Amino acid sequence: MKNKVAVIGAGNVGSSAALFIAERGLADVTLIDRAEMEGMPQGKSLDMEEAAPLWHKGVHMTGSTNLADVKGSAVVVMTAGFPRKPGMSRSDLLKANAEIIKPAAEAVKQHAPDAIVVVVTNPLDVMTWYFSHVSGLPKQRVMGMAGILDSARFRAFLAMELGISGADIQAMVLGGHGDSMVPVTKYTVAGGIPVEELIPAERLAQIVQRTRDGGAEIVKLLKTGSAYYAPAMSAVEMVEAILLDQKRLVPCSVALDGEYGLKDLFIGVPIVLGGSGVEKIVQLKLSDADQAALAKSAKDVADMIAELKG
Ligand SMILES: NC(=O)c1ccc[n+]([C@@H]2O[C@H](COP(=O)([O-])OP(=O)(O)OC[C@H]3O[C@@H](n4cnc5c(N)ncnc54)[C@H](O)[C@@H]3O)[C@@H](O)[C@H]2O)c1
Repeated sequence: MKNKVAVIGAGNVGSSAALFIAERGLADVTLIDRAEMEGMPQGKSLDMEEAAPLWHKGVHMTGSTNLADVKGSAVVVMTAGFPRKPGMSRSDLLKANAEIIKPAAEAVKQHAPDAIVVVVTNPLDVMTWYFSHVSGLPKQRVMGMAGILDSARFRAFLAMELGISGADIQAMVLGGHGDSMVPVTKYTVAGGIPVEELIPAERLAQIVQRTRDGGAEIVKLLKTGSAYYAPAMSAVEMVEAILLDQKRLVPCSVALDGEYGLKDLFIGVPIVLGGSGVEKIVQLKLSDADQAALAKSAKDVADMIAELKG
């Protein structure tokens, strides 16, 4: 039997993720949006289904505005949510997106209690915590997508700098998804060679900063909306690792219970991602500076969780 993936939110990230899942032939996809958008997820799914004869993978797409249609999903990708609009405070966004997470998490709890959940909605680490909190699913089955995207951006910029394939660059970006993310240059290699040996420190620092500002750079260029191709592809890397039990060693936002000296929050750390979800949290030896940066990033996340609890 084919697997089913439900993608909640049929906007830019959600519909792109659905397309990448189908194109890779990973699973049938149900694309779900809110009731007011009746017809839109169905239309996008039908459009993709009409492309199915061209990609020869035999997967099927359906659209819905009913959250109960997460039923039977092996994986649920949560992309529904608003981006921060001009004039909107961080707290307003936090509340608005929490209101979207809540019914989705309740629907997964009720209709797809065995699913593994990949949260994409921002602010990422807090929304992942909230999804976990509301759904009550085991901690290893709820995680957030950010580290793979941030690492992919870092890899892309390093590839441009070195004039080599990004496929040969491995990078590790830890911490919360936001300005305080922690690109760990010590564990970043090109063809196995530490990038610290290939790029002068000053230039490397500039590339790290461009990675931190990666989301904002796209927002500025697009003028409306935010990045979606790389975010969708990053979420699909996680879906693939889960469905194919690949045991990928990648950074994801997960629940910590003392690892890295942190607990009661979700934040980006390296994990082994496979068929059971978060199969292991990998503890790295961080430099004092990186450990301090991770602690600062964690404080930002913890403050937002406290605000949401309040
Ligand atoms: N984690 C990351 O690295 C990352 C990267 C990119 C985007 N994001 C976040 O992903 C989210 C989606 O981004 P986008 O560019 O696709 O936005 P978008 O506006 O294109 O799509 C959002 C979709 O969610 C739908 N939606 C709203 N409320 C809903 C509800 N209650 N139930 C079902 N669907 C609902 C909207 O109708 C819309 O179709 C945002 O919160 C964005 O900040 C995160």
